[in-house]
Amino acid sequence: MTLRGLATSGRRLVAAVLGERTSTATADVVWRGIFAVRSLQAKTFAACRRIQRGAWTPIRFMRPFWDKREFAVGTMSNSGSAGSRHRLDQKLRSVLEIPESHALVLTGSGRSALALGLQVLAEQNPDRKKVLLPSFGCRGIYDPIIEAGLVPFFVDVDDDLLASEDDIIGHIDNTVLACLAVNTCGKQMALDRVVETARNYGVFVIEDDCHAFGKSQSGQVVDLRILSFGMGKNAMASAGGALIASVYQNEIQRAAFMLKDEPDYASRGRFSYFAKRYWNRRHEGNTTPIDRSLVTQYDSTIRMSSRDALIMISQIDKLDYIVSTRQNNASFLRYELTPNLFQTQTPACHVYTKLSVVFSNPSLMVRFRAHLLDWGIETEEMYFPLHLRPFAAAYNQRALPRTEALKGCVLNIPIRPNLTTQELKRIKRSIRDFAENFHD
Ligand SMILES: Cc1ncc(COP(=O)(O)O)c(C=O)c1O
Repeated sequence: MTLRGLATSGRRLVAAVLGERTSTATADVVWRGIFAVRSLQAKTFAACRRIQRGAWTPIRFMRPFWDKREFAVGTMSNSGSAGSRHRLDQKLRSVLEIPESHALVLTGSGRSALALGLQVLAEQNPDRKKVLLPSFGCRGIYDPIIEAGLVPFFVDVDDDLLASEDDIIGHIDNTVLACLAVNTCGKQMALDRVVETARNYGVFVIEDDCHAFGKSQSGQVVDLRILSFGMGKNAMASAGGALIASVYQNEIQRAAFMLKDEPDYASRGRFSYFAKRYWNRRHEGNTTPIDRSLVTQYDSTIRMSSRDALIMISQIDKLDYIVSTRQNNASFLRYELTPNLFQTQTPACHVYTKLSVVFSNPSLMVRFRAHLLDWGIETEEMYFPLHLRPFAAAYNQRALPRTEALKGCVLNIPIRPNLTTQELKRIKRSIRDFAENFHD
């Protein structure tokens, strides 16, 4: 007799002796017990597998590269004066070799920097409304265009997940105000042709270096450049951004003068939130509701807080180490990412804010993600094409086949500089294990 048959007969017997209600209640208890035992069994097997793989502690995708210095600044009760913003300004100018003639504005976020730049371009060129941007991007590049009352026009991507040069050039004309050249994941775009065409039509080029903080390797002088110092970037404060401008410097400085200070409690609350989230540390005296301080960073009317400016000063002191360690970690892992299963961006001119892996279809990506999770490794899914998102439906003017093919197919794996050697080796072993046991 099968187990199911035995259970049915048992149930009938209990019903005959004790009644239907007691029988149903007993069956319920028994089934619950079976489910509990099964789930315990599955959890025990999973735990054993993880111990076997040395994967007991999870590897977080993200954790800022902060040490005593950042914690001291992040938690102090009063983060001081505008002097720290001036020091950061000087430091950025020297590290990025920004000429004194260029305007440099420290903002609350990367998107606020873009919003400020676009607002001035729009005011100075009221007859042009169109802004070209890659659809393979985040809301941080879309929202400021709408906020400035401009019209987004999406372009397709190339094999390196960058906006296609040909598609940008093919759509530059006298109606375009600006085009956004985004150095996605830290891979820098070749800008020569784009800049040359843009100049011919009086179109402004905005280089988005939010993912590519460091010296510009393209060597091209663009009109505007934006940086982000928020979570998940190469150098992280609790939030922050910068706008660098080689055009309309006076107008941009004037608009920057109107920015407001962020209340000190907001930056402190935000820092404490991240300390709790990534280190499980609590700081006394912090009663700020986090949603309030997280939201102020995206308010385009505020300037960077002095606390975040101070954190950025220590981050820049470590920038060379951060970038070279990310590049080394990426090349260590790329070795296992064989092109038959995984596609990656080409490594030249790449500062690796992200190591993105492209799969041939979404189900393969999901399988790989689940596999890494089994090894205790957290990953991050990349963008869903902007032109297919409901909020941008009005600007979905044409098919963008290459961007659409990436939908659900791109995953980022951890390469942060504070990964231990053991963690890095575990990530490498997990990739190898996936490739070796892969069957279609
Ligand atoms: C490429 C790119 N540009 C701009 C932004 C906006 O930066 P922020 O989040 O600091 O506003 C982001 C945000 O992650 C980004 O990834």
